[in-house]
Amino acid sequence: MDLYEYQARELFRSHGVPVLAGQTATTPEEAFQAATTLLGQGADLLVVKAQVKTGGRGKAGGVKLARTAEEAREKAEAILGMDIKGHTVHTVLISEGADIAQEFYFSILLDRANRQYLAMCSVEGGVDIETLAKERPEALAKVGIDPIEGLTESVARTIVSQAGFNDETVVHGVVEVIGRLWEVFTEEDATLVEVNPLVLADDGRILALDGKVSLDDNARFRHPEHDALVDNKATDEREARARAAGLNYVRLEGEVGVLGNGAGLVMSTLDVVEGAGHRHGNMRPANFLDLGGGSSAQVMATGLEVVADDPQVRAIFVNVFGGITSCDTVAEGIVTALSKLGPDFNKQIVVRLDGNNVERGREILQAANHPLVTVVETMDGAADVVTAIAQEA
Ligand SMILES: Nc1ncnc2c1ncn2[C@@H]1O[C@H](COP(=O)(O)OP(=O)(O)O)[C@@H](O)[C@H]1O
Ligand SMILES: [Mg+2]
Repeated sequence: MDLYEYQARELFRSHGVPVLAGQTATTPEEAFQAATTLLGQGADLLVVKAQVKTGGRGKAGGVKLARTAEEAREKAEAILGMDIKGHTVHTVLISEGADIAQEFYFSILLDRANRQYLAMCSVEGGVDIETLAKERPEALAKVGIDPIEGLTESVARTIVSQAGFNDETVVHGVVEVIGRLWEVFTEEDATLVEVNPLVLADDGRILALDGKVSLDDNARFRHPEHDALVDNKATDEREARARAAGLNYVRLEGEVGVLGNGAGLVMSTLDVVEGAGHRHGNMRPANFLDLGGGSSAQVMATGLEVVADDPQVRAIFVNVFGGITSCDTVAEGIVTALSKLGPDFNKQIVVRLDGNNVERGREILQAANHPLVTVVETMDGAADVVTAIAQEA
């Protein structure tokens, strides 16, 4: 999960990384109020910043200075609703502004290829770091971090010296902030923590003015508090419902709903549907849905409901390989699910079963003789039938 800057900033603050005061606003009026509060607390410069999960906001006109609350309102009005690289701005952050003496770059990320972490740092921050890495790679220090040893103070000193820092006071400040950012990275289970720019302010403080954080979703169970960071507005409503039911659902663009058990099988199913679709009006998969291991009737019913609820879906392909949950259980699941879903459910379902107890499973479906269900023995055959039905529908 990627965080918005204002969320990253809150995590930074909670781990002692120095950040400036700020408040979010979703309307120009709220921006005015937030600015009034910050000015009342002694801020003499404000920055209005678009909150979108993409970089380069400054260049795109999504970061603007303001000196008065009235000016903050105007800047917020200009930025709200703006499109930045395909992201619409719904929220702005009204932040205290810094008088910047120098801008630096610092990041820590998960380096999968080398099975360790990687810290990157430069005294030339603020700029587009990809450009710096390409044009002047020597200006960007890259230091591998041993996951067992961690980013110790001595490693932090190595990083800043390679990055080209030489003023001892600044070095001291930056080393301390890097230590705190490492704490954010490890304690929050992040895969990326990036601060661009990390700045030296005129008054000598080292401040994180921007923050990009990605949290490791596989570690979510350790962080119930991260639930509050999920941006429900941006999550597809159907995806949220599926997730709540423990299903792995991703919406795609086509017309054929797909349900299967096991991510690998579902991925292959998407491929065969895509392939068969070329013969049937270019029908394409409408979603990825992995029912998981134990495809109980309840899970099947929820899965069918989620998939069928998508108005784009014209027909559904259920592709199950019976293992520990055998085909007869799955078949009973489908029959029970259909009776649970009732008469409003009206989308054709093509079922392909194989694996453990397949004969019994097919018998159960034949016996139920449900008007919406067609059983096809092979995966390619089923893909052909379901795309043909979708094309007709
Ligand atoms: N609080 C602030 N005070 C002063 N200048 C700021 C502040 N926040 C950002 N800036 C300036 O705006 C630039 C772009 O902002 P940043 O938050 O890095 O957004 P992005 O990386 O998306 O362009 C920064 O490099 C910095 O020069
Ligand atoms: Mg930035």
